[in-house]
Amino acid sequence: MKVLTYHRRVDAPITPELLYEGKAKQVFTTDDPDVVLVRFKDDATAFNAQKRGTVVDKGVVNNAVSAMLYAELEARGMATHFLQHVSERDQLVRRVSIVPVEVIVRNRAAGTFAKRYGVEEGIDLAPTVVEWCYKSDALGDPPMNDATAVALGIATPEQLEALFDLATLVNEYLLARFALAGLEVIDFKLEFGVDAAGELRLADEISPDTCRLWDIESGERMDKDRFRRDLGGVEEAYHEVLRRLRETAGRPVEVAGADAGADEGALHDA
Ligand SMILES: Nc1ncnc2c1ncn2[C@@H]1O[C@H](COP(=O)(O)OP(=O)(O)OP(=O)(O)O)[C@@H](O)[C@H]1O
Ligand SMILES: [Mg+2]
Repeated sequence: MKVLTYHRRVDAPITPELLYEGKAKQVFTTDDPDVVLVRFKDDATAFNAQKRGTVVDKGVVNNAVSAMLYAELEARGMATHFLQHVSERDQLVRRVSIVPVEVIVRNRAAGTFAKRYGVEEGIDLAPTVVEWCYKSDALGDPPMNDATAVALGIATPEQLEALFDLATLVNEYLLARFALAGLEVIDFKLEFGVDAAGELRLADEISPDTCRLWDIESGERMDKDRFRRDLGGVEEAYHEVLRRLRETAGRPVEVAGADAGADEGALHDA
């Protein structure tokens, strides 16, 4: 009689390998070379990592907030890296090669901007300010203009133009989306990357770590400034942002300027 032998499945899951550990997240390989798993940590840093701490469950909140917003942006036709929220701290995303440009969008003066130009925090900025910083921890993410980015080979003129347009669309969406949740988007940082097919995609995260969010009624800060400035109630603010986003999920989001850019085919209301 033939003896049955059992072999280890050749397609057994490959042990995830830690590709990169940043200040807020870890990035792991998966079975699919084009997909990575992002794990959100509770570690908090500010002022170029000179200030360090922990915010209990920050990773859980940021994972959930980011997953929700990226799914909503995808549903409106924006190319993002997001694939799936898989557990409390983990999400699957398309692996991209990050364009080393931090895109900062400012609707009101705050933080570094207010300090740099000697203006009061909260003044309205018209037009909306879009800034580039060179994504380099070693150099402290220095600001740069278009010519610097192109001359140093950091980005092409076409990429910068696309980054500007995409950042503007994300801003219009976030302003309307957070307004539903009673929050004003003061400013935020985006990162983009190029996927295996060469497509530019919104990557990284959008969360209270990467946005300034002020309560529309009280002006209270509901973001990482509570940690940066030792305002207390950090955990509560992060949870409240998630709670309000969940409470308002599925409500129609009326995006300003959607008609003006209707030919772009992205992010306009159906
Ligand atoms: N889809 C993606 N594919 C590959 N890398 C990504 C993707 N999305 C984000 N990343 C990168 O993963 C890292 C996330 O880690 P984290 O946010 O903790 O970094 P960080 O500490 O802010 O440092 P830095 O962004 O300066 O590397 C970042 O380098 C980010 O650019
Ligand atoms: Mg980061």
